[in-house]
Amino acid sequence: MSGCIIVHGGAGYVPAQLTEEKTRGCQSAVQAGYSILCSNGSALDAVEAAVRNLEDNPSFNAGHGSVFNNKGQIEMDAMIMEGAQFGVSAVAGVKTVANPVSLARKVMECTDHVMLISEGAELFAREQGIPEVSSEDLVSPQTKSRWEKYTTKSDDHDTVGAVAMDCHGNIACATSTGGTTLKRVGRVGDVPLIGCGSYSDNSLGGVSCTGHGESITRVTLAHRVLSNSITMSGQNAVEQSLKFMWDKVKGRGGLIMITPNGVISKGFTTKRMAWASIDTNGILETGIDQPAITTD
Ligand code: GLY
Repeated sequence: MSGCIIVHGGAGYVPAQLTEEKTRGCQSAVQAGYSILCSNGSALDAVEAAVRNLEDNPSFNAGHGSVFNNKGQIEMDAMIMEGAQFGVSAVAGVKTVANPVSLARKVMECTDHVMLISEGAELFAREQGIPEVSSEDLVSPQTKSRWEKYTTKSDDHDTVGAVAMDCHGNIACATSTGGTTLKRVGRVGDVPLIGCGSYSDNSLGGVSCTGHGESITRVTLAHRVLSNSITMSGQNAVEQSLKFMWDKVKGRGGLIMITPNGVISKGFTTKRMAWASIDTNGILETGIDQPAITTD
């Protein structure tokens, strides 16, 4: 078995004009991750490569393409986790790194900590020789005008993420975001909070979430869906967990999941969520409009 992988490009507002480029972007990212699985690479390497690909693509709100906070600055969050030893790490409020997911991985491999924030994370990045970038490098004029045109504060909960299982049955996840448009300076969402925006446990599965970060955090969505999958199918667990988030805190979002049997599940309670997956038979699938989960 060569493993399997799924990625998402966020469950935020996607105008019809952007559906094709978001879907294409997810397809490119899933192929980047899958090629690592095919050459016997680890699930951790695969999710890092897939999320880096999405961070480098200005169509998505992560890395290049990150949205502005209410002071016109970029503050990015990311996390990465492997499900064998529960190696996990995150960064929050990072402004000067092009690939926050790789900085998070360095925190996991080169420190005793699970999270570094803001200036501390940037100082660590410099120590590691990670090149510094300016906000101007991360926000292209095209991205800026697109977000000004299409984004409304209440609709924007974009994020990118990946979950993979390798041929050894190791399951990893990674998630990265620029957060919510016009968020307060210093606001941190669900992405770097372990068990909220992502979680991996080889005996349960791996998850990456997208959507309204405060709602995802309140219901610890990533860990909730894995717990639910113990007593029901993965797809039912996805749908019930997202419905629970709507019923309990009126939060919308989406998530992707791989369970230890290699089954891929996904769902969302917003209008669209771009995703792409390659299953254990090497079959590539992509989508953005369906299947949505009814919340009314
Ligand atoms: N889910 C991304 C965020 O709220 O920051």
